[in-house]
Amino acid sequence: MTLTDADPHILCTDLVRIFSADGIEVQALQGLNLRVDAGEMVAVVGASGSGKSTLLTILSGLDTATAGVARVAGHDLLTMRSRERVAYQRHTVGFVWQQTSRNLLPYLTAAENVALAMNVAGTRRGAAREQRVDELLDLLEVGDRRDRRPGELSGGQQQRVAIAVALANAPLVLLADEPTGELDEETSAAVLEAMRGVNEELGVTTLIVTHDPTVSGHVRRTVQIRDGRTSTEVLRSTRVDEHGAEEHVAEEFAVLDRVGRLQLPHEFVQTLALRDRVRLALEADHVGVWPGHEGADAPPRRDDEASIAPRRGDEASAARATTEEDPR
Ligand SMILES: Nc1ncnc2c1ncn2[C@@H]1O[C@H](COP(=O)(O)OP(=O)(O)OP(=O)(O)O)[C@@H](O)[C@H]1O
Ligand SMILES: [Mg+2]
Repeated sequence: MTLTDADPHILCTDLVRIFSADGIEVQALQGLNLRVDAGEMVAVVGASGSGKSTLLTILSGLDTATAGVARVAGHDLLTMRSRERVAYQRHTVGFVWQQTSRNLLPYLTAAENVALAMNVAGTRRGAAREQRVDELLDLLEVGDRRDRRPGELSGGQQQRVAIAVALANAPLVLLADEPTGELDEETSAAVLEAMRGVNEELGVTTLIVTHDPTVSGHVRRTVQIRDGRTSTEVLRSTRVDEHGAEEHVAEEFAVLDRVGRLQLPHEFVQTLALRDRVRLALEADHVGVWPGHEGADAPPRRDDEASIAPRRGDEASAARATTEEDPR
């Protein structure tokens, strides 16, 4: 395994996961594309059933995709053998689950939970281990709770300890499934800020999946997942306005895949009653999309620009612009 700084830490290409239960097939992931670079912190948001946990379970090595590519820090998750899988889970990734009970052993103190995780991973021994346990708990601002058991901690404190446990094996990649799902709004915000602090301090690549849209206020990049596919991305940046004041800007983009597919926002499709096929026209600096049903106005043709607007009956190019029915 060779990994250079330029390689993405998480790369999913056309990832598919089909579950078969009682003869019924569920396509939980339907060709998902996602790239997260080393040191990035990204949130994946989506409605219940959109495939978030399926994605995270595959990335954590606990489940295998049906098809496509999933690579994390140089490991190919589809072809990985069981020995590599164990090593991968021990050394490369750390996880935080929604249920605090899944992250921590109830009869061990916060410090013992972190130390146990280091023991399993074989990271550090003796005094160096004790010191690292305290450093991680301090980083998560629960150092003063080191000798308490999970039952003696608040929900937010338990998740902070859980993040320290997930970091105990010094992972390259931290994966979190609804880490704030059981917390109130204020505590959620504080835990997300703690995760951002960890990402900045340790440089660990971080992927959070959640149905909570407020997460986008805490990360630079939020990817929206719909029906098992990434559909839009929101990028947040800070710029200085003309008065010298810092302002936060959030911009939403549609995700374009390798072969040029994108998902039109639901409200665009509804407003223009788009269905089955649409007409496309290439303009100097943008692409126009027009309803393609019978009787709809054809896109205005401009002689000075190349147009790929399909002529009536030009099924080949019209088919490429076919919109999909929302299965729900
Ligand atoms: N083991 C399984 N067997 C059959 N179907 C499954 C299995 N796991 C998930 N699914 C189905 O796959 C789809 C995606 O599920 P997933 O748990 O990934 O959604 P999610 O986005 O995490 O939802 P939530 O926000 O409710 O946690 C759902 O339709 C779900 O019913
Ligand atoms: Mg889930």
